[in-house]
Order: sequence, then C-alpha cells, then structure tokens
Amino acid sequence: MTQTITFTFNGNPIHCEEGQSIAAALINSDQRELRKTRFGDEPRSIFCGIGICFDCVVVVNGVANQRSCLIEAHDGMKVESAQ
Ligand code: FES
Repeated sequence: MTQTITFTFNGNPIHCEEGQSIAAALINSDQRELRKTRFGDEPRSIFCGIGICFDCVVVVNGVANQRSCLIEAHDGMKVESAQ
C-alpha cells in the first residue's frame, strides 16, 4: 500500500504517492513549467525523463541544479523553480 506525501513547489503543496519522482509528481499536478531558460525566458519541463537533458532542473531544499526526474519526492521537501 502506498502512502501519500506532500512537498511544496514554489510554495504550493503537491500531493503524490511515496516513491514518485519530483518530476512525475509535478506533471501529475499539472505543473508543466519547471524552470525558464537563462536566455529568452523560455519555459522548460520534462523532456527525456532519464537524467540526460537537464531540462527538468529545480532547486531542492536549497540545492540548485537538481534533476527532478531522478530525485524521489519526500514528505516536507521544498522544491522551487530554477532561476
Ligand atoms: S527530464 Fe531530462 S534530465 Fe530530467
């Protein structure tokens, strides 16, 4: 039996099942824009889903450049869009 956990993305609560990646949980919660490009402010989201493209990077508990498709979501995590 899976357990529901909650973390925040840009201050908003995201509920997901234990064991989901941050990226999967965000997409499942209709959070399609994970960051913007440095030049042009173009929105980015999941592209490869396997840790290759870095399009999904976010800030996790204050640590920048974390690939959200590779990191398991945990209860109480603080996730923010990358700048
Ligand atoms: S979606 Fe490509 S590295 Fe995460």
